[in-house]
Amino acid sequence: MKIFMDTANVEEIRELNEWGIVYGVTTNPSLIAKTGHSQEDIIKEICQIVDGPVSAEVISTECIGMVEEARKLSKIAPNVVVKIPCIVEGLKAVRILSAECIATNVTLVFSLAQALLAASAGATYVSPFVGRLDDIGEDGVQLVEDMVNVFRKYEFDTEIIAASIRDLEHVDRVMLAGADIATIPTKVIHEMIEHKLTDAGLKKFLLDYENSKK
Ligand code: E4P
Repeated sequence: MKIFMDTANVEEIRELNEWGIVYGVTTNPSLIAKTGHSQEDIIKEICQIVDGPVSAEVISTECIGMVEEARKLSKIAPNVVVKIPCIVEGLKAVRILSAECIATNVTLVFSLAQALLAASAGATYVSPFVGRLDDIGEDGVQLVEDMVNVFRKYEFDTEIIAASIRDLEHVDRVMLAGADIATIPTKVIHEMIEHKLTDAGLKKFLLDYENSKK
């Protein structure tokens, strides 16, 4: 499972990119709004740091507007992926963009039926929102697992990005479910490296090394 960063914070992306674990980035209008900068400026900067896919979301809710925005966004850098909401107009836009070889990430996916429609329209990626399903008492990871099984069974090329990841348990469970990618908030990626036994083990090794020199 590849790791994408789920943030529009350029400093965070720059820092974690040095770890060598960042394969891509996803943003959304809420994350861009937090930066106080324009989407174009932020996406341009992120694409200078990260070589892999960088998702930028359209604001239009009608096919023609989405397609126009997508064409503009895709000119920012070759690795831009256009995020399209999972609505009827979005499906129409995905079909057009797919024919133009513009990569798409169908977002706000909450059911297996929506995932099938997105993949059928030709989406490059589809993003089930795990945490938001949990928020309404459903099992978001179960949706990811079901999507993995269905996409495998019917041999779809569309890749599954487990999104709306809130904690380490989500990361472990979507990995076990077979998600192609998880897009993870910076805070959770920091938690992924932590283990008290690693810290204790390292402390002991360094102490033993120092003592051996005496
Ligand atoms: C990423 O593609 C999504 O926009 C993001 O994961 C949503 O996460 P949230 O539900 O925590 O806002």
